Amino acid sequence: GDNINDIIDHKLFTEEDIHNMCVRLGKELTKDYACKKPIVVGALKGAVYFLTDLTRQMDVAHQLDFIDVSSYGDGFESSGKIKVITDLSADVKDRDVLIVEDIVDTGLTMKYMKDMIHERGANSVKCCALLNKEARRSKDVTVDYYGSKVGDEFVVGYGLDFLNMYRNLQYIGVLKSEVIQKYVNK
Ligand code: PRP
Ligand code: MN
Ligand code: MG
Repeated sequence: GDNINDIIDHKLFTEEDIHNMCVRLGKELTKDYACKKPIVVGALKGAVYFLTDLTRQMDVAHQLDFIDVSSYGDGFESSGKIKVITDLSADVKDRDVLIVEDIVDTGLTMKYMKDMIHERGANSVKCCALLNKEARRSKDVTVDYYGSKVGDEFVVGYGLDFLNMYRNLQYIGVLKSEVIQKYVNK
């Protein structure tokens, strides 16, 4: 139906779960990035919800930037190719860069971003993802900080989309299989 909650099978992480992950990660990052004045890079579009909550838990002077590299060609499954849609505005040379993501899935997107920022001469490049879906990893990439591991389920909400929708759910839920089936059978 039109109700956003009708497409969810069950909640995986509540608002409180997510808040607790942000607090814990914020503390770790506060410690690790003290005095480094990092550039915190949000990966559009999925990371924006997590980015705003995470950085407000970081008691660290930092600069904010964005990058948009999309791999999910049709908004559903990874196309296997990376497209830079919007590049960083900051010069990352000699800087400490922290990339923030909603999820690392195959690792293709994160590996591409980390390699690119390394090549531009950053002093360090690390990443923080809310979710780490190791089951689908095909690229060897280190997820330096993450909120939680997730299994191979289609998750939506809190930035994570299905067909570029449902990002604004306050919690993270598992999409009903019939919703996916309807799309696959089209
Ligand atoms: C999703 C997600 C990650 C990436 C993870 O982004 O937000 O950025 O895919 O997948 P991977 O590890 O297999 O590369 P997407 O490309 O769908 O763009 P979006 O953030 O705008 O939804
Ligand atoms: Mn993304
Ligand atoms: Mg997406």
